[in-house]
Amino acid sequence: MMGHRTRGVAAPMTQFPIVAIRQDFPALRDDIAFLDNPGGTQLPRRVIAAVGTAMTRAASNLGGYFQASQEADRINELGHTAAAVLLGAASGREIVIGQSMTMLTFQIARSLCRAWGPGDEIIVTRLDHEGNVSPWLLAAQERGITVRWLPFNRDTWRLEPEDLLPLLSERTRLVALNYASNMTGSINPVALLTHHAKQAGALVYIDAVQFTPHDAVDVQRLGCDFLACSSYKFFGPHLGILWGREALLAELYPYAVRCAARSLPSRHEIGTPQTELIAGLEAAVGYFEWLGASCGGRGERRSLILAAYQAMTTYELPLMSELIDGLRSLPGVSIRGIVDPARFSERVPTVSFTHQRHSSRSIAEALGRQNIYVWSGHNYAYEAARLLGLDEDDGVVRIGLAHYNTIAEVTAVLRAIDTLLQSTAS
Ligand SMILES: Cc1ncc(COP(=O)(O)O)c(C=O)c1O
Repeated sequence: MMGHRTRGVAAPMTQFPIVAIRQDFPALRDDIAFLDNPGGTQLPRRVIAAVGTAMTRAASNLGGYFQASQEADRINELGHTAAAVLLGAASGREIVIGQSMTMLTFQIARSLCRAWGPGDEIIVTRLDHEGNVSPWLLAAQERGITVRWLPFNRDTWRLEPEDLLPLLSERTRLVALNYASNMTGSINPVALLTHHAKQAGALVYIDAVQFTPHDAVDVQRLGCDFLACSSYKFFGPHLGILWGREALLAELYPYAVRCAARSLPSRHEIGTPQTELIAGLEAAVGYFEWLGASCGGRGERRSLILAAYQAMTTYELPLMSELIDGLRSLPGVSIRGIVDPARFSERVPTVSFTHQRHSSRSIAEALGRQNIYVWSGHNYAYEAARLLGLDEDDGVVRIGLAHYNTIAEVTAVLRAIDTLLQSTAS
C-alpha cells in the first residue's frame, strides 16, 4: 500500500503485511469479526509465548541468588525499558507498571493530592474515561480540593484550548486530559492543552489508553508530567503503564509498605510485580518493532516503532473511512464523533453511533449472535454520554478497528447492521 498521511514521519512504501499479521494472532478467525478493539485487543504469538516462557523460567520473586529470580529481574528490567522506548521516555526508571491504568491513576491521584487542599483546584474533562476522572474526584473530595470541568466542543468533538484557558488560574494544581476518546474517537490537541496548563503552573496527567494502539506517543514532545496507558489495548497483556518525570516520581509520596525499596521505579510498584505479564509487555513492544521492520522501517527500536505506527495509521484510514461512510448511509443512524474526511487525522478508528429506534444493546446483541464483536453502553465515558443526552445504560454502539482488521470485516458489519435495520423497519 502506498503511504497516505500520518501524524508524523514519512511513509514507508512497502505493502502492509495483513495476511502475515492475521496469521500471527491465533484468536483472529475469518468467521469472527473482532471489532471491539477499544475494549481490548488480541495478542500476537510472541506475546503469548513470552508469558508462558516467563511462567516456566522466571516464576520467582525479584532480587534472589538463583537463576529463576535473576531471570525475573532481567524480564522486569527489559519490560520497563521497552515501555520507555514505546513512549519516548528517557529510561525505564520513569516507567511504573501496575495492574491497570485505573489502579495506577487512583494511586497517583492519592499521592499527588496529598500535598493539596482547600484553595487548590484540579481540572478534569467531560470527554475522559472514568479511569481519568473518578480517581481525581475522590482524591479531591478527601482533601477539599475544588474540581473544575473542561467540556468538549460539540461541533469539533474535541477538548479545545479556548475552553481550557478560562478554567486555569494560579490555583490550578493539575489538569487531567484525554489523548483519544474511547467513545467519540477524537484525538485531542494534548500538546497545546498541556502547554497552556504548564504556563499556568499546573501538572498535566494524560490518559493515552486509546491513542497507543493507533499512533506513537512521545512524552518528551508532549511536555506533560504523567501519561498512562494499558498494554492490553495495544496487543499486550493486562497491565497498566504509567510514565512520570523522573524528578516527580522520585519525590512523590508512595503509599507502600515501610520496608519497600525507595528507588525508582520500584518505589511506586506496590507488591510483587506481574513478571510474566511484564514479559508479555516487552514482547508486545517487540511486535511493534517487527511490524515496523516488515513495513520498511530501519534503524533503532524507536524508529521501527514509529514505522509500525505509521504503517498502521495508513492502513486503518481507508477502513475507518469505509465504516463511517457506510454507517452514515444507513437511515436513522447518527455517529457521535468526527465524520468529515478532511478531519480524519483528528480521530482514531473508534466509531460510536446510536439509532433512532433500535437500542444500542439490541444492535450489539444481534451482531454478537452473528460473530461480529462490538460493544454497547456508555463505555465508562460516563460524562460524555451524559453531555450527549444518551440513555445512561444503553449509550452507543461502538465499533473499534485495529490494524489487523480487514475491509471484508467492515463490509460484513455494515451489511449486518443494514439487514437488521431493514428486517425490523416499520
Ligand atoms: C480511554 C480509556 N482510559 C482508561 C481506561 C481504563 O484502562 P484500564 O482498564 O487499564 O484501567 C480505558 C479502558 O477502556 C479507556 O478506554
